[in-house]
Amino acid sequence: MNENVRLRRRQLLILASSCIVAVPLAGLAKTTTNDIHVVKNPQCGCCSAWIKILEAKGFSVTAEDRSGSLLTEFKIDSGIPSDLMSCHTAKIGGYFIEGHVPAKDIKRLVSELPDALGLAVPAMPYGSPGMGPEDEREAYDVLIVRSDGTTEVFQHYPKAGIQA
Ligand code: CU
Ligand code: CU
Repeated sequence: MNENVRLRRRQLLILASSCIVAVPLAGLAKTTTNDIHVVKNPQCGCCSAWIKILEAKGFSVTAEDRSGSLLTEFKIDSGIPSDLMSCHTAKIGGYFIEGHVPAKDIKRLVSELPDALGLAVPAMPYGSPGMGPEDEREAYDVLIVRSDGTTEVFQHYPKAGIQA
């Protein structure tokens, strides 16, 4: 079986099991959690910078180092599409948080509890939290990955100095 087909099958399985998990979760009364677990590359300084920002915004963060293929495997197992991958992968309230997602978008996610797998900021945009000064920010989007695997813009961040 070729690698792509295998990955796709695996992602479908993950999607199917995530749906089962997501339904009762969405049915619960609105509760917010501040407990977030981050899986990151030990060599990555920007991951630690992002964690510090989350802690400053009131999150209770636990972190775990995984290198290379182990980290990639964790991303695939979490249902993160390969084109949305970034450096670290976090988990909060059953959702994944991929990359340099701002704290306020994570707070919105866990208070609105949408039917979704998680949020992603693909790659590492300059000026996103942990990636350099916000006043020099390049434009980027926080994407929401729905339970059916489709993505939408959850929040757009314009280039610094440009009105939203
Ligand atoms: Cu990074
Ligand atoms: Cu990171």
